[in-house]
Amino acid sequence: MAVLAAAASIPAPGSTGDGSLPVAATLEDFFMPGTQPDPGGVVVQPIQSATNCILCHADFDQAEPPLPPAGEPFRNWAGSMMGQAARDPIFWAALTVANQDVDFGGDLCLRCHSPAGWLGGRSVPTDGLGLVHSSADFEGVTCHFCHRLVNPDFVPGESPIEDGLINDDLDVLGLLPAQPGTARYVIDPLDRRRGPYDLGKNFFFHQWLQSPFHQQAALCGTCHDVSNPLYTRQPDGTYVMNDANAEHPTGDKFDMFPIERTYSEWLNSSFANGGVQMNGRFGGNHPTGIMESCQDCHMPDQQSPGCRVPGFEVGHPDMAAHFLNGGNTWVLNAINTLYTDSDPIDDPPNSFNDPVFQDEFTGLTPDIIADALDRTTQMLRDASDMELTQVGGSLRVRVINMCAHKLPTGYPEGRRMWINVKFLDAGEQVIEERGAYDFVTAELTEDDTTVYEAKLGIDAAVAAKTGLPAGESLHFILNNVILFDNRIPPLGFTNAAFEAVQAEPVGASYADGQNWHDTDFVIPPGTDVAVVTLYFQLTSKQYIEFLRDENTTDSRGRIAYDQWVLHGMSAPVDMDMGTIELQPGIPGDLDGDGVVGILDFLALLAAWGPCPDPCPPSCPGDLDGDCVVGIVDFLTLLTNWTP
Ligand code: HEC
Ligand code: HEC
Ligand code: HEC
Ligand code: HEC
Ligand code: HEC
Repeated sequence: MAVLAAAASIPAPGSTGDGSLPVAATLEDFFMPGTQPDPGGVVVQPIQSATNCILCHADFDQAEPPLPPAGEPFRNWAGSMMGQAARDPIFWAALTVANQDVDFGGDLCLRCHSPAGWLGGRSVPTDGLGLVHSSADFEGVTCHFCHRLVNPDFVPGESPIEDGLINDDLDVLGLLPAQPGTARYVIDPLDRRRGPYDLGKNFFFHQWLQSPFHQQAALCGTCHDVSNPLYTRQPDGTYVMNDANAEHPTGDKFDMFPIERTYSEWLNSSFANGGVQMNGRFGGNHPTGIMESCQDCHMPDQQSPGCRVPGFEVGHPDMAAHFLNGGNTWVLNAINTLYTDSDPIDDPPNSFNDPVFQDEFTGLTPDIIADALDRTTQMLRDASDMELTQVGGSLRVRVINMCAHKLPTGYPEGRRMWINVKFLDAGEQVIEERGAYDFVTAELTEDDTTVYEAKLGIDAAVAAKTGLPAGESLHFILNNVILFDNRIPPLGFTNAAFEAVQAEPVGASYADGQNWHDTDFVIPPGTDVAVVTLYFQLTSKQYIEFLRDENTTDSRGRIAYDQWVLHGMSAPVDMDMGTIELQPGIPGDLDGDGVVGILDFLALLAAWGPCPDPCPPSCPGDLDGDCVVGIVDFLTLLTNWTP
């Protein structure tokens, strides 16, 4: 990091940029294998809108007799962020910044957030204005897209033979993706809907194929490893921007800059290696409770049919609920505000002066949103456990990751989790607080607690090329260094395996196998009880202000910001809460054995000198809290010496 700061003013060797934005690039720079756009839908039949599925796969309450709502694909999916990935105002604001930063940058974003638009050749212009309203384009990751996905890694005897032929055709053209990630998807050119079940020879509602791929994490891995093909990894581990107008030299995602690694994190956890028994925490009525795939946790099993057509009432014991919830606590509300499906005669069109935010059918209703946000809160609460103990004069807060990937995982910008501690006296008055969050201003006091997050940035070469300052940055598509990542690894974590997938901790250390994190807080004198809360926040103030201020070419940053304010400034969610009664510790009892003795003296000597910078919430030996272990601390220890 020191290198970065110092290098900011030094022009990078070999830099060809003129220090201004956007960086010159073409669509070629974002070219990746897999099915390619087919504007006319000549070879690849167009992706259909979910409205073509609702006749049979929606409104389970209207079936005779009514069916379990969890079994209904449509409304659960509509209440997921994937069903709204192309209506998300935060996405649109970030898309504009990406286009301001790099020519054609938005093409990379749209292939994942609007696969129907991308496949239909409508991702250019890359500001998204080519997408068609009230079609699958704005449905984000839509039914017909997911259910036409083909496993690029053909498994003989398992995958449908049709898939082998589709892959062969791509292979001949050099277009078969070698690994999952960055939306390098293979789509069946024909409308054959794949799913987990054998629907039998007599099934006539639509063409179908039984696809084991749909029960595997690799399907989700198609998009849940996100890499930036603008960059190539160097032998020294840095990332250098490729020459413009050429596809990535190796095409290997591990040679690109890693933006999200959720799938790889999972792949290198115990969940991918035999699974983990989660004792009913996740998985619905899963027969063993052993969570092995993303679907097991994010699409829990229900006894239900998947459609409301008479004759199918018996259903399946393992019908996957299309919940797909994660940590998104508020954006559905914003989407509902921005895309009101209003009656054009009674209601004027909405006043948001960007054609992207137009009235159209979203599938969202207040009930669907409320149910989805309840499930999201529950996901966040199930995501971790917290343990509180007293160690000497300190309160130890242990956060244990119960997810199959980092906690938190995925999109790094604006998402964070932190520990809030309130030390109370016997009269239940707050004496001191750590990690205080102001719910009125949305400001977090960060320097006296642990904040779990990833921070990305740009190095000196990119700074010179773009005219942006080197160091921490929220320019998603330009970032090429990971400055910090202390997010908690999943069970089965090893440093070597995570390093191999560019997901190792940075600026934090976790031992192999460690899926928890400890923070020690010095207990202030007079404390009786501590109340501890672990919070998650989706969209920080810093990030939303960045989107508002950095957006100079359209009003999407402003629109996103206004929605953030309107819907409660991304209120933090409490993931865990606990209370612990604390014994007044003896100052100087560093090892917590109840006496102040020679071991404590030696520990104090070992810690002699300044505490690490920045000063941690607890610096052992620093009894007076001045961030230096020195003579005053030594005298305090002597005063309390146990005879
Ligand atoms: C993110 C990809 C994705 C999207 C989007 C999606 N599904 Fe699915 N769907 C799946 C997966 C994966 C399974 C199988 C999961 C399992 O069995 O573990 C599945 C299972 C199904 C099944 C089989 C269950 C049964 O009992 O018949 C149906 C039907 C279905 N989906 C319909 C839909 C409809 C309709 C939509 C849109 C409203 C939709 N899906 C959206 C991924 C998706
Ligand atoms: C390969 C797929 C993929 C590509 C390419 C991609 N994204 Fe995403 N994006 C995701 C996934 C997956 C998430 C959700 C991760 C999570 O919830 O942590 C996400 C989340 C986001 C979010 C957070 C939305 C919110 O409501 O908080 C924004 C903003 C975003 N992406 C913008 C972009 C932009 C801009 C680009 C292009 C520069 C882009 N994405 C490219 C897959 C992709
Ligand atoms: C006319 C009724 C009807 C329509 C419309 C319809 N489906 Fe289905 N679909 C069914 C029935 C019935 C089943 C069997 C459900 C079950 O097994 O419980 C089914 C099953 C499926 C399955 C499971 C396949 C498998 O092998 O596991 C998928 C996937 C699916 N449909 C996708 C879709 C999608 C996507 C759409 C819209 C583009 C759609 N369907 C529209 C009637 C329909
Ligand atoms: C075509 C790419 C694509 C595929 C395939 C895909 N996702 Fe996603 N997923 C996304 C994008 C894009 C987002 C972010 C949408 C947003 O926030 O705007 C997302 C978001 C999510 C979220 C976060 C939701 C939240 O509330 O924060 C979860 C959980 C998720 N996906 C799970 C899955 C699972 C499980 C699968 C496999 C069954 C899957 N995804 C397959 C693209 C994809
Ligand atoms: C053992 C259960 C479990 C499994 C397996 C699992 N997840 Fe999650 N996931 C969770 C929980 C709980 C959360 C909520 C915590 C959070 O948002 O950080 C979550 C959150 C997410 C998010 C949202 C992150 C954010 O903060 O925006 C995404 C995206 C996601 N998971 C994708 C996946 C994918 C892809 C897989 C498979 C490769 C997967 N998950 C496997 C439990 C699981």
